[in-house]
Amino acid sequence: MDNFRAKEAKEGLSCMEKRLIDINANGPIVMPAVVVTVGTWDEANLITLAYVGKVAAEPPVMAISIRPSRYSSSLIEKHGEFVINVPDSSQSQLHAVDFCGTRTGKKVDKWKELNLTKEKAKEIQAPIIKEFPWNFECKVIERKKIGSHVCYWGEVLAVHAAVDTLKGDGLDETKQDQLIYIAGTYYRMENATCGKQGFSRKK
Ligand SMILES: Cc1cc2nc3c(=O)[nH]c(=O)nc-3n(C[C@H](O)[C@H](O)[C@H](O)COP(=O)(O)O)c2cc1C
Repeated sequence: MDNFRAKEAKEGLSCMEKRLIDINANGPIVMPAVVVTVGTWDEANLITLAYVGKVAAEPPVMAISIRPSRYSSSLIEKHGEFVINVPDSSQSQLHAVDFCGTRTGKKVDKWKELNLTKEKAKEIQAPIIKEFPWNFECKVIERKKIGSHVCYWGEVLAVHAAVDTLKGDGLDETKQDQLIYIAGTYYRMENATCGKQGFSRKK
């Protein structure tokens, strides 16, 4: 029996032995692995980011963190906008994610190398990646240097979503096929749903 099955088989809550570890060590917090567009049409660059998350609902705001040493840093500073392009877990999109996270746009045209298609965004100048199923167009509303990274908060101005991941006008949670990044490893989301929000209130 693997660890997960063993846990499921065990009933009730219980405590376990723990020890303190280095605060800089990787923790079990899941992160996405997305490719972000920065810069306007001709100079648009692609950078892979894991430090990404939604931080407000009305208006919708997404946060991303970029090290100032990245080539992409100068482009987001100059234009104040970005697109979060969410890949699926296919081998070709995974390859694009890893490629954009291990090459610099200072030396390579990542669009060209990966054969990715620029598509005009609706509200901003930075292009979206046509091949990726979800694209969030964001305008920077705040920035703050936090230690090693600069955190940018971007208000979401438009969202493009592949119709086969939707149920009506909203997300179909049963059709999500995203990448998850933990401690240097990419994982595929397997839709192993284990509960709906609020289930604990029901008898
Ligand atoms: C999975 C993955 C996640 C990453 N997450 C971040 C991140 O959140 N912030 C960051 O500054 N760099 C991150 N990087 C590193 C940049 O993507 C990488 O340095 C990239 O080559 C920079 O591109 P640029 O020089 O064209 O801007 C990540 C790399 C990978 C592979």
